[in-house]
Amino acid sequence: MHACVCDYITDLVQNSIEAQASHIQLDVYTGPEVIRIRISDNGKGMSNSTLSKAVDPFYSEAGKHDHRRVGLGLPLLYQTAEAVNGTVDIQSTPGKGTVIGFTFDATHVDTPPLGDLALTVIGLMTFSEQFNLELNRETQRDSYQISRAELVETLGNLEETTNLILAKDFLKDQEQHLKQ
Ligand SMILES: Nc1ncnc2c1ncn2[C@@H]1O[C@H](COP(=O)(O)OP(=O)(O)O)[C@@H](O)[C@H]1O
Ligand SMILES: [Mg+2]
Repeated sequence: MHACVCDYITDLVQNSIEAQASHIQLDVYTGPEVIRIRISDNGKGMSNSTLSKAVDPFYSEAGKHDHRRVGLGLPLLYQTAEAVNGTVDIQSTPGKGTVIGFTFDATHVDTPPLGDLALTVIGLMTFSEQFNLELNRETQRDSYQISRAELVETLGNLEETTNLILAKDFLKDQEQHLKQ
């Protein structure tokens, strides 16, 4: 099991980037009963046979990782969801994209904490690939949205350290003021 929900988010968004998505939507909902995450991308998608292989821990696309021949992201997600009374749902169409949604029972003792969402999202935005990443963050009583494109437009770029710090502080602030 990963230490926090953000680690699962990182795995899944990385998969979307690796699938050459130009647009990735990340929905993060945390409530008293459930944590619900959804990642939608317009990347290359998966056929049914790739999808069934993808949940096998001993499968990874040939050549995807230099030093590792097995994939871990999806099998680990299934394993955790099962352990914490959660669900995983994958919809994928070759050439169109993939939607992966999962829930964890927020009241289960083994459910990991959310983790540092601001740091996670900004970290994902620093990947060199060209894609927009849109975060839609919700709680029962509140929400905010932010995208990589908006941050780049406001700050000029997400390469300079000072800009990254500004972006991260902005997101941290949004998280801190989010009504639960
Ligand atoms: N968003 C996605 N779009 C297209 N293919 C995906 C996506 N997510 C996962 N896959 C496929 O599922 C496989 C397994 O994913 P994962 O468990 O994260 O292992 P890894 O990324 O290490 O290969 C990937 O190699 C890829 O073929
Ligand atoms: Mg992966």
